[in-house]
Amino acid sequence: MSETFTNKSIALVGPMGAGKSTIGRALAHALNRHLVDIDTEIESRAGAEISWIFDKEGEQGFRDRESKVLLEYCQRKDQIIATGGGAVLRENNRHTLSESTIVVFLRTSVETQWLRTKHDTKRPLLQTQDAKGKLQELYQVRAPLYESCAHITVDTDKSEADEICRLIITKLKQLR
Ligand code: S3P
Repeated sequence: MSETFTNKSIALVGPMGAGKSTIGRALAHALNRHLVDIDTEIESRAGAEISWIFDKEGEQGFRDRESKVLLEYCQRKDQIIATGGGAVLRENNRHTLSESTIVVFLRTSVETQWLRTKHDTKRPLLQTQDAKGKLQELYQVRAPLYESCAHITVDTDKSEADEICRLIITKLKQLR
């Protein structure tokens, strides 16, 4: 499989609840590549959960950590990189993602995002009275950013992770 497309790393971008970690695992397995989950890496380097980082350092402190880890992994080959939903906010991140990796946008409706995240207690941005409204607001701002750096877009609403993974692989082969 790997000889059919480049050894560039593949970065999954998209909103909270798009399935980046789950699809990342399936893709890493199918392509025999190493998976890095940027949120998990940030937590392990900080020795603290994301909610703690948001609390103590604010969102900008978290974004600084996120950029550092993301840009580091974008320089590596053969990775599957599961990003956080806000990784595309900074222009520099978007530039590096689209230059150094193959970016896959997991497009997901707000309804599906909501179904998958409504019981979540770990995502600081969703710990609000109107979490669905927040998802809507974030998507409006971020959808054009995901689109602007993506080489491949797949819809995740109606399919299982394995099926999406197969579709991504088909599209990766078509890139060449
Ligand atoms: C965030 C998404 C989260 C995590 C952090 C901020 C965002 O990652 O990075 O809570 O800004 O959308 P997931 O997209 O993996 O939930």
